[in-house]
This record gives sequence, structure tokens and C-alpha cells, in this order.
Amino acid sequence: MYIISKKADLADYLKQCRLNHKTIGFVPTMGALHEGHLSLVQRSLSECDVTVVSVFVNPTQFNDKNDLQNYPRCVDKDCALLESVGCNAVFTPSVEEMYPEPDTRVFSFDGLDKVMEGEHRPGHFNGVAQVVSKLFDIVQPDKAFFGMKDFQQVAIIKNMVRQLRMGVQIIPCPIIREPDGLAKSSRNMLLTPEYRAVAPAIHKALYEATTMKDDLKPEQLCEWITKTIDATGLLQAEYVQIVDFDTLMPVSEFEGHHAIACIAVWAGKVRLIDNIEF
Ligand code: PAJ
Repeated sequence: MYIISKKADLADYLKQCRLNHKTIGFVPTMGALHEGHLSLVQRSLSECDVTVVSVFVNPTQFNDKNDLQNYPRCVDKDCALLESVGCNAVFTPSVEEMYPEPDTRVFSFDGLDKVMEGEHRPGHFNGVAQVVSKLFDIVQPDKAFFGMKDFQQVAIIKNMVRQLRMGVQIIPCPIIREPDGLAKSSRNMLLTPEYRAVAPAIHKALYEATTMKDDLKPEQLCEWITKTIDATGLLQAEYVQIVDFDTLMPVSEFEGHHAIACIAVWAGKVRLIDNIEF
């Protein structure tokens, strides 16, 4: 497995791959890899000839300095894991390599960035689009793999790819969970044992909500989920929204919509997100 930190070196390697008619799969990550990330890598390995993973904690997408500072970093362990699953190349650029000068681009996403994560983390998706567009320019993948855990991110990236007329196919992949239902996340390792013990309540509430959709309206279900989360005494729901899968706009009825419930929860100082489709 190649470990590459310079854009030019990665471009050279990929040029060679393309000359040999290899298809290129790409998995962007911020590291601290877990089975959620590895499921994307495995999907890429199964669909593409060459798989490239980037490990880069992108400063422009953090709206909270503490979050950026505390974000777990363990690139050697990440590389060992990636090697063990058969990844072909890891791109580990420095901040200077990715941002030789500040990126001042401002994207617009047809309102997709104005709700949920976009509303509560101002600038977050603009930073995501900055880094992912740069990475796509460098890697020029045939396919890029993203987890549905970050459902809104998938919608934003698809919108960006369409706007910039990039030739990459975006492949959404299912959420990987712990045995107790908690969605795997790099941030889970920041949870104290007390918070870790109650965190499965998030998925449990979402799952139970899906069984009640014939009896309650989306708005009532959101209220029920919020109450159930807050009743743990430790977790605090930041938002709960049931939105249309494509437009991300809140739905008032289930009928006629492919709906998805999205949630952000504070577990002490750690912010967790999750979602479930109806
Ligand atoms: P990161 O949070 O490291 O996630 C990298 C990819 O792994 C994302 O597509 C995310 O949705 C996916 N992922 C995380 N946990 C998952 C789980 N439990 N099941 C399935 N997939 C999961 O998302 C980012 O990094 C960044 O915003 C990035 C796209 C790399 C841009 O900086």
C-alpha cells in the first residue's frame, strides 16, 4: 500500500493506474477509522480496480475550534487498518498541501445546506465542499463512496458534483452500527463510559418511531423522539427533523414522501448524529 502525502505524487501514481485502464474508487475520510469507514473501503475494493483513501482532518469544515482540536488523530493505526483490508493507496496531506492559500470559494446548494446540520453548523458544508472538490480534482475517481450516517452530506456532495459537472459517481453506503445500535463514529471514542452507556437510546428512539408512523404525524413523532432522548437525563437532542429524502424539506405527512428522520444529540461535550429511513 502506498502512503502518499503530496498531491503531485498521488497524481503520478493515479496517472499510471489510468494508463493501465484501472478504474479508481475513492473514500474520503478524516481518519480515526472504524468499521463504518472500512465498509466503504471494502465496497470500493469490490467495485473498482484501485482504491484510494484520504485521511485529512479538514479545518475548514469545523465551526467549533474545540471540536477540531479534540478530533481524534491516529494516522499510523489508520494506515495499518487500511493495509490489512487491501487498500491500494492512502493520501495523507498536510493542511498546507491542501490549502496553500485560503479557499475563499462560497458554494450554494439550492437550500440543502440551510436545514439540520447546515443550520446548526454554519459554514460546515461549505468547508466539506471545498475539501471534497479539491480531493476529487486530485484523484478524479470513477466512483466515490460516502456513508449514509452523514445523510445530508451525501445530498450536498451529489448537488456539488452536478453543479461542477464532475464525472464521479457518488455511491451512498449503509450505516454501520455497534451491536447495541449506536452508529459507529470516530467521536464515540470521546464519550465517557456514562455517556457511552446511554448513547444507544438514540437509535432505539429512532427505530421505535418508525413503528409508530401509522398513528402519529411527523411533527408529533419528532416531539416524541425529542422527549424520549431528553428523558435519559444525560442526552440532549439538538434537533429532530423528519424530512423528504430528496429535498430535505420537513414533511407534514408521511403519505407521498420517502421520509427520513435525522437527529443531532449532545452527549456531554460530544455531538452525535444519526438518522433512519421510514
Ligand atoms: P468522516 O467523518 O471521517 O467520514 C468519512 C466517511 O465515512 C463519510 O462518508 C461518513 O459518512 C462515513 N461513515 C462514518 N461513520 C459511518 C458509519 N457508522 N457507517 C457508514 N459510514 C460511515 O465525513 C467526513 O469524514 C468528512 O466530512 C469528509 C467527507 C472526509 C470531508 O472532510
